[in-house]
Amino acid sequence: MNKKLIKKSLPENNSNLSATFSPDFNSLIEPLINLVSEANLKKALKQSIIDSELSLRKIEKCFNYLSSCQWSKEFLALFFNSWKSTHLKMLAIYALSCRLQRLALSSEADRQQLFFLAASYNAATSYEDLGLDFQGVTHAQLYDQLAGFFLGDFPWQLDYYCLPVAREFKNWIYQNMVLDDIGTGLLTNIFSEIYNHCEYSIALHHFSNFIDRYYVCSEAEKDKHLCYIKAHVINETEIDHFLVVFKALEAYNQATDQKINYQQARAIFTTYLTRVGMIMELLTEKMKKQINAAT
Ligand SMILES: [Fe+2]
Ligand SMILES: [Fe+2]
Repeated sequence: MNKKLIKKSLPENNSNLSATFSPDFNSLIEPLINLVSEANLKKALKQSIIDSELSLRKIEKCFNYLSSCQWSKEFLALFFNSWKSTHLKMLAIYALSCRLQRLALSSEADRQQLFFLAASYNAATSYEDLGLDFQGVTHAQLYDQLAGFFLGDFPWQLDYYCLPVAREFKNWIYQNMVLDDIGTGLLTNIFSEIYNHCEYSIALHHFSNFIDRYYVCSEAEKDKHLCYIKAHVINETEIDHFLVVFKALEAYNQATDQKINYQQARAIFTTYLTRVGMIMELLTEKMKKQINAAT
């Protein structure tokens, strides 16, 4: 897989946040899928996108709604707490890397090297989250900064503001990456990086419009507030992560004499999108309720 080719074929949405261009999942994900050379992975990605059309539209609709109205702090707390549960999976990434390292330590030399490699590649997806090369500023801090701009002192971090389906999603990710077999964990991490690239690109567009329409702040302040989302989109951070977890999976499969299981990969990817779609649909319903109550 060649990132230069991906870069060339991506829509130029990363720096241009004009209100007229609205990115969508299908156009964002297609260039990434086209550069996957592994046949089963490519097939699984394509099929899961077809299977998940409804879920993808639910997710896009939620961000569209978000930027179209000024919302109550109660709703924004629900959004930021629940959305956070679909991201920030540093603990699960660390656990998956530890599992690979533990395998390496108990293996013979030839396989040991491959397991260590897989562990290192997987761990590389958390460098930015941990603030390496960014003065130690973690993505958790950036998320708090983003939510804090909209919510101030409002206690959005309370469990009360997390939708049960969002909590279930977080548990499902943890189950896949920490408790299930390592292949499932790596496929889950791969898809999460691909999904994140697309979702954050869409979110950046809509959050930018949301601030422009309903909040007063300078461009520099807006940049600062949106830093969490930009950190994942600018420089194509999540594409790098996707490519590096794919290398981890290749090394793991080589060490265990396995190949990517198309059916398993498709099921993981589709379940991922179905679960996120459910969360976003519920958030959209909450927004609709607020609009209906005001009219
Ligand atoms: Fe991150
Ligand atoms: Fe990532």
